[in-house]
Amino acid sequence: QLAAAVVPAAGRGERLGPGAPKALRELGGVPLLVHAVRALARSRAIGLVVVAAPAGGEAEVAALLDSHGLDGKDVRVVAGGATRQESVRLGLAAIPADVEVVLVHDAARPLVPVEVVDAVAAAVRAGAEAVVPAVPLADTVKRVEPQPAGRPEPVLDTPDRATLRAVQTPQGFRRDTLHEVHLKALAEESAPEPDALPPVTDDAGLVERYGGRVVVVPGHEEAFKVTRPLDLVLAEAVLARRRA
Ligand code: CTP
Ligand code: MG
Repeated sequence: QLAAAVVPAAGRGERLGPGAPKALRELGGVPLLVHAVRALARSRAIGLVVVAAPAGGEAEVAALLDSHGLDGKDVRVVAGGATRQESVRLGLAAIPADVEVVLVHDAARPLVPVEVVDAVAAAVRAGAEAVVPAVPLADTVKRVEPQPAGRPEPVLDTPDRATLRAVQTPQGFRRDTLHEVHLKALAEESAPEPDALPPVTDDAGLVERYGGRVVVVPGHEEAFKVTRPLDLVLAEAVLARRRA
């Protein structure tokens, strides 16, 4: 029984600046999404990839994946949602019930090495319920009291950098675990006081919120997320180095 992957690709990419939705922006002449799906499809642990496309853009995205030769693989496209969390939930709903291991991978991490995909899937297979690839931080990190833009922000404290990790994707899960935490989060959002919830920006964060156990495995510097224009410059350079 192979693992399946969900690829949330429905974001607008506001921090990258004006242009097409981020997942469709090009890197080396190929959309970020195509790079990301290829990186997953290359793993022998993965049997199915479900892409959550911008709502209304499903046919366009399916045609795009076909035109890049990904039609031979088992790749499906569904409509994504208004938030990353919703996109993941919608993608997950399209995965057959007998699939036991699910990876979630950002379309915005086009250059993740296949070794990271394999390692995450293997760690779930080996018994972990939630696995995240991560790397040590280069920068010192400070917690601050946020202020309106432009005002100096008082520092609260400086966590010991040796205990911090920057997390990447693909994150891997036992399917039941991922399904359950997404349903709980959805139920809580529609509850009377959603303000009480701290924001959760990744799937493993939901597992943590509901008391599950998450483990970290080594990520890779090339699995960085394309978020701002400089990231695209770096991604082009990494791709050129690979092709050289
Ligand atoms: N994503 C999604 N559905 C959304 C929002 C985000 O599927 N409603 C996806 C993005 O397409 C991306 C991944 O989640 O692959 C990580 O999100 P992020 O890097 O924040 O991408 P965007 O939301 O597109 O960018 P920004 O926040 O700058 O607008
Ligand atoms: Mg976003």
